[in-house]
Amino acid sequence: MSWKSTLQTSATILSLVIVINELRRAYARISQLETTLTPLPPRSRGIESRIGNTPLIEIKSLSAKTGCKIYAKLELLNPAGSSKDRVALAIIKAAEIQGLLVPHRGDVIYEGTSGSTGISFAVLASALGYTAHICLPDDTSPEKLQLLEALGAEVEKVKPASIVDPNQYVNAAKRGAEEINQTSNSGKRALFANQFENDFNWRTHYTTTGPELLKQLDNIDIFINGSGTGGTISGVGRALKEFNKSTKIILADPQGSGLANRINYGVLYDTVEKEGTRRRHQVDTLVEGIGLNRLTWNFEQGEKYIDEAIKVPDDQALKMAKYLCINDGLFWGSSAAINCVAAVKAALKYGPGLNIVVVACDSGDRHLSKFWKHAAQVTRTITLEEVLADS
Ligand SMILES: Cc1ncc(COP(=O)(O)O)c(C=O)c1O
Repeated sequence: MSWKSTLQTSATILSLVIVINELRRAYARISQLETTLTPLPPRSRGIESRIGNTPLIEIKSLSAKTGCKIYAKLELLNPAGSSKDRVALAIIKAAEIQGLLVPHRGDVIYEGTSGSTGISFAVLASALGYTAHICLPDDTSPEKLQLLEALGAEVEKVKPASIVDPNQYVNAAKRGAEEINQTSNSGKRALFANQFENDFNWRTHYTTTGPELLKQLDNIDIFINGSGTGGTISGVGRALKEFNKSTKIILADPQGSGLANRINYGVLYDTVEKEGTRRRHQVDTLVEGIGLNRLTWNFEQGEKYIDEAIKVPDDQALKMAKYLCINDGLFWGSSAAINCVAAVKAALKYGPGLNIVVVACDSGDRHLSKFWKHAAQVTRTITLEEVLADS
């Protein structure tokens, strides 16, 4: 072999070695990338096995601006998209234990809800051998009606009415279940789930959501959430207070709701009552799922653990929703936005240096036609100072 061809062969071998090394390095980098993804959850059986143990993430932009660490419990990652999966599962399992529901007997779960609870019941009813029958006001957004129908729930639309009206949607659900139980001779039974008054609602948050948070974060200085049924704030509030009584529990309350006054001054009252300006909605706000002008069993179970309430106007919630989307890539529902406004207010009042936890109950896509129709119009250059400014 000539010295020339020896040189050529050596150069080829050297190039090959270099290419192989580069490939190895690239592969090592890709493998490293894979290890930074979420750990693979264990294999499990049925959609109901994926409820709970939701992640806790830090909201980087809010932490950086406030000097506190602000975290969100991602309840929107439950399989039917909200924390209501926990409640629906707990109510169904308790009813099965009491013999009130038997799978695949034709039993029907009745609930009066225009929100996430109906979606959780629709999904879990199918998964566990039941039919969900959801009563809701006839002006509920078309995408929610479509979703419930697509999920196979029976949907009953009723005229919007006050809770004292027998045709109000929660009362309609109760009556529907009673009628089946009184008249059915096929053995089929109906359960009125009754999330507002059902004791298993707050209890599931007390035994699951609260203890999960205690595992996820060493020291929780402040926990903030709105109240719809009151189940979450009562259950989590009680679990956190029993662990450490100096943890502050703060209610984030939308405009039009009387709960903030109840906590801060002992009277369930909102200014719209006095001014007579209340519109059609029971709670006059764009925010869905939280705020109320009556006391529920689930709220009462945790009221004594709530230290204070922070009122959040719709305008601040809309701006916060867009701020989180632009700065953190977090596309959340209206109650999560309210919680984050309250978290920043609490951080500025009590911080810096505190760990603050809020709940992100559901995603923005459930709110596209109402809350997000307005939030989308907020400028993408919105600052946190502008979020908090009064309109
Ligand atoms: C979107 C949303 N966020 C928050 C809540 C409040 O949760 P809770 O009913 O546990 O008070 C609800 C309740 O329906 C909700 O739908």
